[in-house]
Amino acid sequence: MTGDVQLQGVSKVYGAGQPAVRDVSLTIAPGELLVLVGPSGCGKSTLLRMIAGLETISGGTIRIAGKAVNDTPPKDRDVAMVFQNYALYPHMTVEENMGFALRMRGMPKPQRAEKVRAAAQSLGLTDLLGRKPGELSGGQRQRVALGRAIVREPQVFLFDEPLSNLDARLRVSTRGEIKALHQRLRVTTVYVTHDQEEAMTLGDRIAVMHAGQVRQCDTPLAVYARPADRMVAGFVGTPSMNFVDGVLTRNPAQGNASPGWCVRASNWLVPIGPGVCSEAALQEGKPVTLGVRPTGLLLAKPGEAEAALAGTVHVVEPLGEATDIHVQTALGLLVVRLPLGTPPWRAGEATLVLAKPDSLHLFERGELGKRLARD
Ligand SMILES: Nc1ncnc2c1ncn2[C@@H]1O[C@H](COP(=O)(O)OP(=O)(O)OP(=O)(O)O)[C@@H](O)[C@H]1O
Ligand SMILES: [Mg+2]
Repeated sequence: MTGDVQLQGVSKVYGAGQPAVRDVSLTIAPGELLVLVGPSGCGKSTLLRMIAGLETISGGTIRIAGKAVNDTPPKDRDVAMVFQNYALYPHMTVEENMGFALRMRGMPKPQRAEKVRAAAQSLGLTDLLGRKPGELSGGQRQRVALGRAIVREPQVFLFDEPLSNLDARLRVSTRGEIKALHQRLRVTTVYVTHDQEEAMTLGDRIAVMHAGQVRQCDTPLAVYARPADRMVAGFVGTPSMNFVDGVLTRNPAQGNASPGWCVRASNWLVPIGPGVCSEAALQEGKPVTLGVRPTGLLLAKPGEAEAALAGTVHVVEPLGEATDIHVQTALGLLVVRLPLGTPPWRAGEATLVLAKPDSLHLFERGELGKRLARD
C-alpha cells in the first residue's frame, strides 16, 4: 500500500506577483488517483511541482505518507514524475532507459533486469526492450516514460499532462492503459491535465482549479451533476453548459394551487422543479444565472409550444449519435443536443427552445457564482 498526500493551506507566490496557488487544502488517499484540472495558468503544474519538490513552498505544509516534506529534497520524497516532455536518453535502449534510475541507485543488474522486464510486460513493451527511442512511435515512447516511473516503485506518481504530445487516438488508448495500470498497482497518483474529458475518465476524484484555488473536489459524476459554481459547471461537460441570466419569480401560471417558482429571462419563463433552488434563496426578483446542459434543452416548431424561447437555427452539427444545434436567441447563442432520430433542422429555420425542468442548475450571478441548489 502506498502513502497518502496531504496538502494543508498550500500557497505559492512567484516573486512579487499574484499567488499562483492560494491556500489549497486536499488529502489524496492511499492508492487514489486525483486529477487536477482547470484552465491554462490556474496553478496545476505549480501545485504538482511543489509536491515533487521542484518548486519551493511559499506557505502551508505538504505531507507524504504522514511526513512533512516541505524541506525534503526531491530525490528523498519517494515520488516519480512523468512530464509532457518525457525526454528519454536517445543513446540508450528502452531497457537501459527504464532501468536508469535503478542503476543510479546501485541496484544489481539481475534485480534491475527483473523489474524492467515486469514493467515492460505490463506496458506491452517486451518486444521493444532492445530498441532506441528514435525507433519508437510517440505512444511507445510515452509508455517507456511511464515504465521508467513504474520501476522505481514510488509512494506517489505525479503526472503533468503526460498525453498532450500524442494524437487524439493515441491519447485515448494510452489514457486507458494508465487507468488499467493504476487499477493494478494502486499507487497514489496526482494527475494534471487541462482536458476535462481526461479528468472525468481517469480520476477517482477530480479537483477543479481556477486562479490558484480549488473550486470543487469530488467524484467525476458528482462534479458533473452538482457543480459547486458556475466556473466548474462551464468547465466540466462537452459541449459546455448554456448560461442565461434571469430573475427568480413566482410562477404566474393560472389554475395551479401551489404555483411554484420559475426563472424569467427576457420573455422566457422557465419553471424550476423542487431541489433546483434552496428555500432560503427563493426570493422574488432575485438575480440568478440559469444553467442548462445541451442535453437538457429541446426544440419545437413555432406555435407548437408555450413558455418557450424563440430563436433561429444558426448551425447544425451532425455527430452521428446526436446532433448539436446552435440556436441564436435574444439571450445569446444556445447549444441544443438532440438525440439520433429527432426530425432534422436546417440553418435559418425559426425554432422554439424549451428546457427540461429536471435538467436545470441555478447559480448566483457572476463568473464564480455559487450553486443555489438545496443539496
Ligand atoms: N517560474 C515562474 N515564475 C513566475 N511565474 C510563474 C512561474 N511558473 C508559473 N508561473 C505563473 O504561475 C501561474 C500558474 O502557472 P502553472 O504553470 O502552474 O499553470 P498551469 O495550470 O499548469 O497551466 P497550463 O495548463 O498552461 O500548463 C501562471 O500565472 C504562471 O504564469
Ligand atoms: Mg501546466
